[in-house]
Amino acid sequence: MANPFKLRGEVDLRSFCNRADERRQLFLDMKSSQSVVLYSPRRYGKTWLIKAVLKDLKKEGLSTVYLDLFAIYSRQHFAEKYAREILTSLALSAREMEAFCSEIFIGRNYRIFLSVQNKYSVEFSVLPTDLNRFEEIIYNLPQIAAERFGKELTVVFDEFQDINRLNGEQMEKVIRAYTQNHTRVGYLFAGSKRRLLVNMFTDERHPFYRSARLMPVAKIADTHWKDFVKRLFTQDKLEIEDCFIKDVLRITQGHPYYTQLAFYLIWNLSSEKKECSLSILEEEMLSYQNDDFINIWDNLTLSRQLLLIALAREETAHPYAGDYLLSHRLGSASNVQEAVRYLEREDIIERSENIYRIVDPLFRQWILKRVL
Ligand SMILES: Nc1ncnc2c1ncn2[C@@H]1O[C@H](COP(=O)(O)OP(=O)(O)OP(=O)(O)O)[C@@H](O)[C@H]1O
Ligand SMILES: [Mg+2]
Repeated sequence: MANPFKLRGEVDLRSFCNRADERRQLFLDMKSSQSVVLYSPRRYGKTWLIKAVLKDLKKEGLSTVYLDLFAIYSRQHFAEKYAREILTSLALSAREMEAFCSEIFIGRNYRIFLSVQNKYSVEFSVLPTDLNRFEEIIYNLPQIAAERFGKELTVVFDEFQDINRLNGEQMEKVIRAYTQNHTRVGYLFAGSKRRLLVNMFTDERHPFYRSARLMPVAKIADTHWKDFVKRLFTQDKLEIEDCFIKDVLRITQGHPYYTQLAFYLIWNLSSEKKECSLSILEEEMLSYQNDDFINIWDNLTLSRQLLLIALAREETAHPYAGDYLLSHRLGSASNVQEAVRYLEREDIIERSENIYRIVDPLFRQWILKRVL
């Protein structure tokens, strides 16, 4: 029997809890070619939500393009990959594709590989001297394709704030300039570095200023989790008490990934007829995430680590105050300022209702239990 709770990979709608309102809203926005910014801390389920919406849109006959900027390493790479994704999304026959490409690209920048089954893959290799012209074509392509083939497109840029790594401001300008008059394309900009991303759409110095609706992704409410968990356990003929579900949700607080992880681990123990208490569960969750957390931790400078230790022990409205610096041995206020700036930008800490705290609740636990 395979565990029905899924921790990574493509969205599996059987392991997908609720999000009905968000899904419907995004579906309607994309269908009417609106632009939306979707943001939340890491692992709240943005990508799963997006992929679910893209499935819905495809069923309606729209073409959908999904590009994750996390894996893009240069402006040229971005343009080539984007071009390929747009063209592939159109699901044209090889002949149509060839005709369309030779018209659009005037034969210069692309190669089409045809295989025996009449399947094709489109490959681009753009010379740096051709890049500006290529970008002009590519960034207009969704609208051109929508007009030509009579169907709307949805374009998703996931981890869009990562554009900052690729000559960002210039690219922001270029993309905004070409896409702003697209009437048949819905653009969805998603990301987990909330400050960076939201700033791109709310700071008037940025080209995307006020160009899209802001939509935060929240945690999932307990009532939805209860039904979801109950259903997956009973379908596998495993038992789980309502009050235990409630206790687990008190720990995970409806965080999408951690709730999925908790019940994944409980399902494993339960299918092996092993006992599972809340303390066992917390230990198992920390062990499961250990490598990820070590990875984050090892990439931080000492003063950033010290600030996280301080915040794990004591959240505060005044991290620069003398007594806070002293009691947590943080050194100078300017060190802490630098650490705050960096950790906020990376969305590792946040300031909400005036209090600075660590965003990821399990990471905080890990610091308290494994670092100290
Ligand atoms: N609606 C949901 N129902 C159940 N589990 C979910 C849901 N959304 C997300 N998850 C769980 O959380 C995991 C992370 O989701 P996802 O990758 O979509 O998050 P994300 O916000 O895109 O994260 P990141 O910011 O790291 O890219 C999924 O693999 C899944 O285990
Ligand atoms: Mg994601």
